[in-house]
Amino acid sequence: MTDTLHPDLSTLDAAGAVEQRRVLVTELPGPRSRELQARKVAAVAAGVGTMLPVYVVRAGGGILVDVDGNQLIDFGSGIAVTSVGNAAPRVVARVQDQVAGLTHTCFMVTPYEGYVAVCEALNRLTPGDHVKRSALFNSGAEAVENAVKIARRWTGRDAVVVFDHAYHGRTNLTMAMTAKNMPYKDGFGPFAGEVYRAPMSYPFQEPAPISGTEAAARAISVIEKQVGADRTAALVIEPIQGEGGFVVPAEGFLPALADWCTRNGVVFVADEIQTGFARTGDMFACEHEGVVPDLVTTAKGIAGGLPLAAVTGRAEIMDSVHGGGLGGTYGGNPVACAAALGAIATIESDGLVERARRIEALMVPRLRALADRFGQIGEVRGRGAMIAVEIVTPGTRRPDAAETSRLSAACHAAGLVTLTCGTYGNVLRFLPPLVIGEDLLTEGLDILEQAFAG
Ligand SMILES: Cc1ncc(COP(=O)(O)O)c(C=O)c1O
Repeated sequence: MTDTLHPDLSTLDAAGAVEQRRVLVTELPGPRSRELQARKVAAVAAGVGTMLPVYVVRAGGGILVDVDGNQLIDFGSGIAVTSVGNAAPRVVARVQDQVAGLTHTCFMVTPYEGYVAVCEALNRLTPGDHVKRSALFNSGAEAVENAVKIARRWTGRDAVVVFDHAYHGRTNLTMAMTAKNMPYKDGFGPFAGEVYRAPMSYPFQEPAPISGTEAAARAISVIEKQVGADRTAALVIEPIQGEGGFVVPAEGFLPALADWCTRNGVVFVADEIQTGFARTGDMFACEHEGVVPDLVTTAKGIAGGLPLAAVTGRAEIMDSVHGGGLGGTYGGNPVACAAALGAIATIESDGLVERARRIEALMVPRLRALADRFGQIGEVRGRGAMIAVEIVTPGTRRPDAAETSRLSAACHAAGLVTLTCGTYGNVLRFLPPLVIGEDLLTEGLDILEQAFAG
């Protein structure tokens, strides 16, 4: 079978283990997955949910292999993490080498080269050619928390501005910054103070059309009236919102906000945790409109599945923090750094930015054709390999979460792993690994089409 998208991964991934083919040998979840799920229910806290309780033993390319021998097509990448594929060869090689050498010293005690090399790569790859510094952490939420710490230290101000539909994490500060109550916040307060929410540019759900610059003026007016520019340390925004519904702001929204930040001494923080590392068809989503953030938070796609996150930004802002003010026991762990260097080498050497664009070119026309046939699709949106459909009651813009769940369940039953998101729970999102084969991508879209038809 030819695979124009990834010729060398058309049958076996380069790690040599995973055949690139959907196979269903049992219903999903199969009997062994159901046994494991019974153990999960008895042993794991109920608050830790599992969307599709199919227990995975191996994965690579665009395929997840479960304990029953089923092979599922992966349109989720573990929530935008395994962009380079699971067990990607360069990640595996570097991790194996590193884990056999040393596993931990704590960078704050006795340092090692991998941490420095990851920071050098981040300083080189993130938008803007100004002098930069980076600091490494364990999770996306931790990176966002640290970006806020740094912005407050630099500005001497307290207030943090975030947006409707935003998702920034589940720690106390990032829960305050996240918009949606259920399931992220309900019952977990009180939340951190000095977090203010501004209206987002969400073209599909605007009551009347509004341009990006008008939407920015609306947000700025709220900030200036309700917070005050001179009290605002940071404005934190996802260039394309992830959990909030793959909301792509209207052109001009981000540049106008960035410009307002510059004029008012507010630190513009791009949360690129979901959009970063080639996912949207640029190395970072901000590049699409030439926006250069003061600070960028990254995680997810940075390290091929190992836990790593970072804050990267203007040297003078990053260096305003006193020695010892940033860090943590595991931040920039050597094994995670080795994985990141393998993932970054893969993205750059294998042209994954271009591959994300190719995925968009394949998916979007197909989804638009489905939108012409099926009235439930209100909008097709996204960029690169971060694409979604918003599901509505036909003929309206009323969100239909029940239909979204039905579609998702139908895809899962057929062996296609899709995720949902959105403030209203009505967005079906697609985040395939950037190394997925074209044949699997097409087959996944066929399954989706059948779900709509069913
Ligand atoms: C934009 C964004 N920010 C922050 C986070 C939090 O990252 P983590 O789950 O690694 O803490 C996420 C996770 O989905 C995210 O999408």
